[in-house]
Amino acid sequence: MGGLRASPGPGHLATLPRVRELTDLTLPTRVVARPEEAARALADEVAGLVAADPEVVLGLATGSTPVETYAQLVARTREGLDLSRVRTFNLDEYEGLAAGDPASFRSFMRRHLFGPAGVDPARTRFPVRAAEDETPEDAAARFERAIEEAGGIELQVLGIGGNGHVAFNEPGSPRDSRTRRVELAELTRRVNSVGFLDPERFPTHAMTMGVGTILEARRLRILAFGAHKAGIVARLLRSAPTEELPVTLLAGHPDVVLWIDEAAAAEL
Ligand code: PGA
Repeated sequence: MGGLRASPGPGHLATLPRVRELTDLTLPTRVVARPEEAARALADEVAGLVAADPEVVLGLATGSTPVETYAQLVARTREGLDLSRVRTFNLDEYEGLAAGDPASFRSFMRRHLFGPAGVDPARTRFPVRAAEDETPEDAAARFERAIEEAGGIELQVLGIGGNGHVAFNEPGSPRDSRTRRVELAELTRRVNSVGFLDPERFPTHAMTMGVGTILEARRLRILAFGAHKAGIVARLLRSAPTEELPVTLLAGHPDVVLWIDEAAAAEL
């Protein structure tokens, strides 16, 4: 009996993702066959952090890339994981969209994670102006102060834009940039406006954490999945750090991991 417990059978092994570790690149990279496997591994890591500290500070991202990770976290809440007390900071938000606008990142997070996982809305923060008369500079400073007062971000989830942006740090963003108002790149507006009912009203500006802000998180977990990310992943992993590809500026962080699937690894 004891022997059986100690040595998991083939059924158990079949559920473990096979991770190909690539260590000779600019970023420590883990390749899995399917995005779900990376999502599960990241959800495991987050669940471990929450078990150690129910009020752990998480940095979150929007976009299609992290959706499966959030679904995995939601599934774990049904199995007892309590996310009601975590504190969260999202990377960015569009300018000029109300919180309740279905296209806002606040709505996205409510739909995909906060609502179904029972995260307390009062513990979630976005870089947005509190009122019409707050300047973007004051809002950005307030956001940065809130991160500091929370004790910093323990784990930051990140995606990669097709132009190498990270959050809304578009090409040309300095390594020491902080939370600020930015103009969106043409490619970003084109890609992100897909699905908008009225492309005319797609925002031209946003507020984003800076590269310097992101680099202060204690763990960075970058995700990129699918054949459409293969080109940018190959460029990222071959390029020296450059403002032209802001995601390259994350290389050298003491605890950064890039999770990709085989499709995104195709050009390596
Ligand atoms: P995506 O966006 O997850 O929808 O690909 C990533 C990004 O633009 O940062």
